[in-house]
Amino acid sequence: MRIFLDTANVDEIRQAAKLGVVSGVTTNPSLAAKEGIGTQGGYKKAVLEIAEIVDGPVSVEVVSLEPEAMIEEGWGIAQWHTNVVVKLPSTPAGFQAMAHLSKEGVKINQTLCFSVNQALLGAQAGAVYVSPFVGRLDDEGHDGMALVADIAEIFKKHGISTQVLAASIRHPLHCVMAARAGAHVATIPFKVLTQMTHHPLTDVGLAKFTQDWQKVSKK
Ligand code: E4P
Repeated sequence: MRIFLDTANVDEIRQAAKLGVVSGVTTNPSLAAKEGIGTQGGYKKAVLEIAEIVDGPVSVEVVSLEPEAMIEEGWGIAQWHTNVVVKLPSTPAGFQAMAHLSKEGVKINQTLCFSVNQALLGAQAGAVYVSPFVGRLDDEGHDGMALVADIAEIFKKHGISTQVLAASIRHPLHCVMAARAGAHVATIPFKVLTQMTHHPLTDVGLAKFTQDWQKVSKK
């Protein structure tokens, strides 16, 4: 399972990239707004900077709601950089835009996916990634990870090539579960990536190794 970073914060992306474990980035309008990135070319500038840091897919979401406007906006976004993946929502307008843009060769990340049926439609419309939102389903008392597992199993059974991208990941256990459920990718906040690097026994073990080595190296 590959790891993408779910943020529009360039500093976080720079720090995470140094670890050599991140192979893509996902953004959305809320994440961009959180960083004060808006219109007037701000989103494009940030995405181009991100694409310089991470050599992998960078998902950028459309904000239009009507199919024609989504197609126009998505097409424009796709021209920003070869690694850009256009994020379209799991709505009738979104499916229409997915079908149109994917035929034109634009890579699509189907976002805001909350059911197997939506995932099946996105796959038919040519999405390269489908993003089931685990945490948001959990928040509503549903089993978000069960959706990831269902989609992964069904896609495998039918030889569907759309990749399952576990999104709305809230903690390290979600990552483990996503991998177990068969997700191809998990997109995670910087905080979760940091948590994943840590284990108290690693810290204790390293302190002991260092201490023991210092004892003999002083002799
Ligand atoms: C996915 O691509 C989304 O950007 C993201 O995972 C949403 O996560 P949230 O539910 O924590 O906002």
